[in-house]
Amino acid sequence: MSLPIFRTKQIVSHSEESHGLKRCLSAWDLTFLGVGAIIGTGIFVLTGIAAATQAGPAIIISFILAGLACAFAALSYAELSAAVGGCGSAYGYSYAAFGELIAFIIGWDLLLEYGISVAAVANGWAGYFNNALTAIGFPLPDALTKAPSLGGIINLPAAAIILLLMGLLIFGVKHSAKANNIMVVVKLITISIFIGIAVFNVHPANWDPFMPFGWFQTLPDGKTTGVLAGASLVFFAYVGFDAVSTAAEEAKDPQRDLPFGIVTSLIFCTVIYIIVAGLLTGVVNYKDLNVSSPVAHALTLMGYNWGAALISTGVIAGLTTVMLVLYYGLTRIIFAMSRDGLLSPYFNKVNEQTQTPVRVIIICGIIMALVAGFVPLGELAELVNIGTLAAFVLVCLGVIVLRITQPDLPRPFRAAFGPLFPILGMLSCGGLMAFLPVITWLRFVVWLIMGLVIYFLYSIKHSQLAESVE
Ligand code: ALA
Repeated sequence: MSLPIFRTKQIVSHSEESHGLKRCLSAWDLTFLGVGAIIGTGIFVLTGIAAATQAGPAIIISFILAGLACAFAALSYAELSAAVGGCGSAYGYSYAAFGELIAFIIGWDLLLEYGISVAAVANGWAGYFNNALTAIGFPLPDALTKAPSLGGIINLPAAAIILLLMGLLIFGVKHSAKANNIMVVVKLITISIFIGIAVFNVHPANWDPFMPFGWFQTLPDGKTTGVLAGASLVFFAYVGFDAVSTAAEEAKDPQRDLPFGIVTSLIFCTVIYIIVAGLLTGVVNYKDLNVSSPVAHALTLMGYNWGAALISTGVIAGLTTVMLVLYYGLTRIIFAMSRDGLLSPYFNKVNEQTQTPVRVIIICGIIMALVAGFVPLGELAELVNIGTLAAFVLVCLGVIVLRITQPDLPRPFRAAFGPLFPILGMLSCGGLMAFLPVITWLRFVVWLIMGLVIYFLYSIKHSQLAESVE
């Protein structure tokens, strides 16, 4: 195929990589990395919003459905991450499987996934931060904690935490495996405290009616509701398991350990989510959960103020690392696309003093802080989800394409039953996309059109592959 948009990169195997990074991460480090990136605003905030407005106690079914879609996608990720080396994101795999245009689109989707995720998690962080300030008697006024569409002026804490992380990243604070492991333990303790208290305070009457909003309906204002709409919102809680694949170059035995890390962290989080969602809607009425810090709020309603304070502290610490991992991932993807010539070389300069890509960090930080300050969490999460789901559909398709075009490629991990799981992944992720509101689709289409304009005006000419042909 000679059209430039089909240019493919050669597949690099894990053993051919020589980036000088130390291979020090074990299978369990990778699993912890996954859990560190996965557990965040999704479970601590969106569960409440989705239960109150979309699914009721049946939010538990929403979590199971979203988890299933992720499981199919995760098997595809596992197969590609074991077979294809390189920088390890879906962008890299698709450059080998589909060629440049699709790779660009996936990379462009990943920018949406990671960038808007940081803004969304910052909103979740701000909810718990405000809760903690209120608890110690210094509540911030609504005008400074809510986006304009929710009646405020700006969500100041959400914007401020991103600017703070921007400073940290500029000075080279990377997420280290050790710090990540500590944070994962903090998050798990936080969740255990909630489970430990909630399990003795369940009132089964709260689970009735179980499915007050039905399966799915579109409301007159264009918003969606029902268990399936809830699934496409709480899908956000699973975003991040793909971050495991970005650690390919630092894994001790990537071919064996990446699939293990991806699949194990996903199973682990799914089980936790189902337990927390079931308990949260069992201890208080689902209608009380439409707040910015529902887990702490539920404990306060039960009279456990000390529990609420502990949870808020744990969530504030835990969400900070989620943002750091996602922010770091975002700069890596921009870096990779810029190195390949698909984005301007302006973005791949490393500052001599700090040894970090300062330009990218600052530009992304300012944009994300503005988005976090002015757009509410629900809308951000839906936008993240549509971008991520689209990338997952393409990753699943990539597995099938590569099996046909490169049947002899060594595949240390292979999703069983032929193309069944990748096909189920495409159908379930595509299905979840269909349950998102029309406005989210419109925003996504605008994002894609912007990407295509950049690709055809700039990237197609400046691609490294174009230059190597000439
Ligand atoms: N899955 C991550 C979270 O829920 C992005 O915060």
